[in-house]
Amino acid sequence: MISKAPFLSWDGPVIELQDLCRNFGDTRAVDHVSFTVPRGSVFGYIGPNGAGKTTSMRILATLGLPTSGDALVEGLSSINDPERVRARLGFMPDSFGTYADTNCAEYLDFFARSQGLIGRERTRRLRWVMDFTGMRSLASKPVRGLSKGMRQRLCLGRALIHDPAVLILDEPAAGLDPRARIDLRRIIRSLAADNKTILISSHILTELAEMCDRVGIIEQGELLATGTFDEIRGTLRQNRDVLIRVAGTTEAALRSLATFEDVEVKSSEEHRVHFTIDGGDHRQMEVLRVLVEAGIELLEFSSKDDSLEDVFLQITDGRVQ
Ligand SMILES: Nc1ncnc2c1ncn2[C@@H]1O[C@H](COP(=O)(O)OP(=O)(O)OP(=O)(O)O)[C@@H](O)[C@H]1O
Ligand SMILES: [Mg+2]
Repeated sequence: MISKAPFLSWDGPVIELQDLCRNFGDTRAVDHVSFTVPRGSVFGYIGPNGAGKTTSMRILATLGLPTSGDALVEGLSSINDPERVRARLGFMPDSFGTYADTNCAEYLDFFARSQGLIGRERTRRLRWVMDFTGMRSLASKPVRGLSKGMRQRLCLGRALIHDPAVLILDEPAAGLDPRARIDLRRIIRSLAADNKTILISSHILTELAEMCDRVGIIEQGELLATGTFDEIRGTLRQNRDVLIRVAGTTEAALRSLATFEDVEVKSSEEHRVHFTIDGGDHRQMEVLRVLVEAGIELLEFSSKDDSLEDVFLQITDGRVQ
């Protein structure tokens, strides 16, 4: 079947950063960053202050130029083809400009017009955006008098006005109360379910964990890890706490565990041994296999997962405050 809209047939990564670099004098704000985001998924871009998130997102959003490398939206270069890229993306910056004497409806209408929306289509999009972001009751409220949460919603509405395929949201959850954060998560997931592709940044891993399909952790311009949260956690070397409960005495289990250099026994009681493994999922599977093969009757084998913040600190090597 021939597609009516050729660009919709793009089936490569919807967002792609290719070896992106951006220097400011001696500062390497973005240092050889590459990743891809498939259609309909949410990628969380996580890093501490000054990591390079905004710089790379602005380049992707056609608002800055790289020192080298490229940023692509549906295969189009943000650097060489900015107009066509702009038509496909909505950008929510981390700061909100001041607009004197404008109310919310006028503000959105202005951006609808600047996106070339006219007539009924403009009215329809304005109505949809106001309903979707919960702005309808605030339509005549002056933009200057909005609270932080209301401003974030208005900004998101502005990014959505032309129904873009891609959304780039720079710290949309910053400063939101827990309820507004839950609303934001619901909004993001519903946009992804509608096949939008979303890049969203934060310096707090827990803030994004539940709304992202994959995350990338960036620090000092370098992408240190990418994947699902579980993938990232699984590949890390870490001191993992494990507790086993055996049917008989712990003697045989202790003998098996002693053959592993990276296992440290912390305590042993009648039927229980508590130990740590300096390794990820793979190492844990290996230890479990050896215990089973040694004929030890295991009643329980449980390991404590690191918290999101623990993982973040391990990846960024404790340099993050
Ligand atoms: N216009 C600029 N001129 C000089 N240096 C800049 C400029 N913009 C960014 N930088 C530097 O580039 C680095 C990355 O900054 P960037 O704003 O991209 O980080 P970020 O991850 O968005 O941080 P934050 O969490 O604070 O928003 C920082 O060291 C910053 O000082
Ligand atoms: Mg930033």
